[in-house]
Amino acid sequence: MGYPHKPHPRETPVISKHFGDPEARSLAGWKARGGYRALEQALAMPPAAVIDVVKNSGLRGRGGAGFPTGLKWSFMKQDDGKPHYLCCNADESEPGTFKDREIMRWTPHALVEGCAIGAYAIGAQRTYIYIRGEFTEPIRAMEAAVAEAYAAGLIGGNAMGTGKQVDIHVHKGAGAYICGEETALMNSIEGRRGNPRVKPPFPAVSGLFAQPTTINNVETLTAVPHILNNGAEWYKAMSLSNPKSTGTKLFSACGNIAKPGNYEVVMGFPFRDFLYDLCGGPLPGRKFKAVIPGGSSVPIQTMAEAEATLMDYEGFVAQGSMLGSGGAIVLDDAQSMPRMIARLTRFYAHESCAQCTQCREGTAWTTKILDRIVAGHGTFEDLDTLLSIADNMTGKTICVLSDSCATPVVSGIQKFRDEFEALIAGRRSSTVAMGGHAVARAGASA
Ligand SMILES: Cc1cc2nc3c(=O)[nH]c(=O)nc-3n(C[C@H](O)[C@H](O)[C@H](O)COP(=O)(O)O)c2cc1C
Repeated sequence: MGYPHKPHPRETPVISKHFGDPEARSLAGWKARGGYRALEQALAMPPAAVIDVVKNSGLRGRGGAGFPTGLKWSFMKQDDGKPHYLCCNADESEPGTFKDREIMRWTPHALVEGCAIGAYAIGAQRTYIYIRGEFTEPIRAMEAAVAEAYAAGLIGGNAMGTGKQVDIHVHKGAGAYICGEETALMNSIEGRRGNPRVKPPFPAVSGLFAQPTTINNVETLTAVPHILNNGAEWYKAMSLSNPKSTGTKLFSACGNIAKPGNYEVVMGFPFRDFLYDLCGGPLPGRKFKAVIPGGSSVPIQTMAEAEATLMDYEGFVAQGSMLGSGGAIVLDDAQSMPRMIARLTRFYAHESCAQCTQCREGTAWTTKILDRIVAGHGTFEDLDTLLSIADNMTGKTICVLSDSCATPVVSGIQKFRDEFEALIAGRRSSTVAMGGHAVARAGASA
């Protein structure tokens, strides 16, 4: 995937409009493209009015859960005399998702501006942008943009000469998936082990340093200046499907697909057109088999489900999955579903913080059983055991990493059971089609 990225004619580039344009990275370049007008406008409004605009736009969180952003901001009590914090979640560790790093690489000032507006709206004197440590180029871009914004007086103790305090600090994570979970992220900033916290209390009551805190994803905050510049109605009108999902969304596509990359479309765009038209369809000679549409943590879709999906929060749910973080992992007919799912569960077993028993034990045992099935030593009872473990891993832990590991297992067995059964039954034969190749069975010669 490379930029400059020429947008497909059916894309609606708002957030990605300046991807590939090096001049948009500097403060001068960003201002020449309309940058910081929205911050100026926001600072002249009462904070509650800024929150109302965001509420009316229908903007929902782009980090995974899709919570309404304006509503989340309104949970922060104004004038309670406490320090407030904004955390920008730039951890982006979800497999298949690679949009936030591109926002930071190409348009770092868009995120600085979004953070400054968000911070002002919720009364936060300090914002932490928590970036995954491996993102060296985005980190450099963000640090440079923050320094430029301070030097120009756009942020700091007297933001844009208004007397308002808007401090922004770039904080590097050490590269743990769990630190993308909002309360683990706060622990990590505080210098503690990145373990999720029990909720309640929710961050708006007791978050970073036990003070009222809001956490938002990079893409969520980057959408805010556009909403202030163009109005809530403009944003709301960008939806092909329903009023609950508004605006544009950056979707990442990867895996067995002709043109992987980031594509920005309006909510409700047909997933079929996205996969076959924008992303160029399958690789030569292959057919699509399945899609995990929202990063690895959402249910796997069959192609019949994927091709009937309208790309918004409700549309993915109606077709057996979720929008999640918007990272589509596409699998073609050369792939073995059991092997792919085993690969995913190994990731979750590795990334579990091991705080909750169901997650620590469940991710590890799930991986062991799946590895056994893939190696040709599985039994039919293993499938029941996997579903039973998955049940014990769902809705029972402090955070949803455990649920995320169970999700591909359950949807995979439900929708592609024949592939698991073929592997198990094939124990008596010598070879099985895996990954498009005839692979010698580990147990065949035993
Ligand atoms: C294990 C785990 C990892 C997560 N990783 C991320 C992440 O990398 N980036 C992100 O924005 N949200 C991530 N989330 C979701 C956050 O907890 C939180 O919901 C989000 O940052 C809220 O922002 P939003 O309302 O703007 O979407 C993760 C959640 C879990 C459970």
